[in-house]
Amino acid sequence: MTALTLSTAGAATLRADALVIGVVKSGKTLVVAPGAEAVDKAFDGRLAAVLETLGASGAEGEATKLPAPAGLKAPVVLAVGLGSAPEDGASYGAETLRRAAGVAARTLTGSKKAAFALPIDDAEDAAAIAEGALLGAYAFTTYQENGKDAKKPLGEVALLGAKPRDKAHKAAAERAQAVAEEINRARDLINMPPNDLTPAAFAAAAQAAGKEHGLKVQVLDEKALAKGGFGGILGVGVGSQNPPRLVRIGYTHPKAEKTLALVGKGITYDSGGISLKPAGHNETMKCDMSGAAAVFSTVVAAARLGLEVNVTGWLALAENMPSGSATRPGDVLRMYSGKTVEVLNTDAEGRLVLADALTRASEEHPDAIVDVATLTGAMVLALGNRTFGIMANDDDYRSAIHEIAEEVGEASWPMPLPADLRKGMDSPTADIANMGERMGGGLVAGLFLQEFVGEGITWAHLDIAGPAFHEGAPYGYTPKGGTGSSVRTLVRLAELTAAGEL
Ligand code: BES
Ligand code: ZN
Ligand code: ZN
Repeated sequence: MTALTLSTAGAATLRADALVIGVVKSGKTLVVAPGAEAVDKAFDGRLAAVLETLGASGAEGEATKLPAPAGLKAPVVLAVGLGSAPEDGASYGAETLRRAAGVAARTLTGSKKAAFALPIDDAEDAAAIAEGALLGAYAFTTYQENGKDAKKPLGEVALLGAKPRDKAHKAAAERAQAVAEEINRARDLINMPPNDLTPAAFAAAAQAAGKEHGLKVQVLDEKALAKGGFGGILGVGVGSQNPPRLVRIGYTHPKAEKTLALVGKGITYDSGGISLKPAGHNETMKCDMSGAAAVFSTVVAAARLGLEVNVTGWLALAENMPSGSATRPGDVLRMYSGKTVEVLNTDAEGRLVLADALTRASEEHPDAIVDVATLTGAMVLALGNRTFGIMANDDDYRSAIHEIAEEVGEASWPMPLPADLRKGMDSPTADIANMGERMGGGLVAGLFLQEFVGEGITWAHLDIAGPAFHEGAPYGYTPKGGTGSSVRTLVRLAELTAAGEL
């Protein structure tokens, strides 16, 4: 794990393997960003000119390494682009800083210690840089036996310009570290191969983390699920050798006035079941537990931050496999709510496990329920690979979550739940079918879930099928593979719920 320190040392005097600075475009010229004045001085004021000669433009995502001159303790300077210079007096956006720090940390894989001398105006900037650096340094190496030869992630991030004795700066950095580490926990779970991360293994990970952080963890195994009548979770898991689980992971604060319930889709592998996915559509389906991973990480983060709110996580864990015992298209399941569902497509399994968990979560009368799921390919078609969709039974709540996501640097968009799409799920045999019209498939799934939310409970649904897993080249602080999408939004949501602002 990458360490984080706040340092009062000057950029020229701190011992580190590399010194990270920012560069910006100002009109046609390249300018060194604030925070790196001492570095520029060591270059006799010619740092921008040297970088320009090396081809640097200041564009976001750009990283330029150069040897440091005498006068700097670090042997290497790494200049990262911050895009266009902000208007006079305005500060660099938090997401710009987060991404630039991520690029730097990623570029410095293999280094022991890097000093970050990026522009910091306030505690929020310090937090963004810390978060970006710790997220960008992430690497999943568990399964690389030759890892000894592979480069290790950046060992230590020393933040310059943050004030270690300033309460706000210290708190912001500590928060950033907790959140980034929990996002990286989610990434590890998502990246873990499905032969190892079975529903039982996921539940065991929740139990271990619960012990460490003083959380109450209850696990329903397949016997308990059968006894309780959880027909949705059982119906999805019944085809697999790895039986399903429903995990309740609860964080409580003695002064909490509100309870937030988070429900996560935890399909440890989605083959599609009897409605088998074709090759080309199943290679990344270990990521289908990303919602549960985000929920798990958020509850642990809430505990680490000591938030004055109760946060209850529900992890609906199952493996969706075809076999002689698997649920068939045409089968009818009796759900935990008592409703019957005709399964027309076994690949629409997420809504089945979530429905049971939503009903169970509703029994505790939380102030709000938010579910998170890699639910539909339709949402990816609608919003692309980097934006999650938000649906809700309350317009204000949906808007609030959208604004929160914007604030923490996660791309999202509000989506409707058009009532006319409900009739497509009418079943001649059961109360409802698990599939409806193809058009607007993401919204159809949302309408299905809504029917399993308790009367009068505020509810939102995040479909993270696009951003949960990144297949392209890394960018900013986003690595290949599991991203930890929605954790930052959920943590902020818990904080604002604690503050009574929601
Ligand atoms: N896990 C998939 C959705 C998904 C697609 C996640 C792409 C991540 C990336 C989900 O279980 C699924 O297969 N949904 C079907 C529903 C359909 C059969 C109604 C889909 O979207 O095609
Ligand atoms: Zn599926
Ligand atoms: Zn799925």
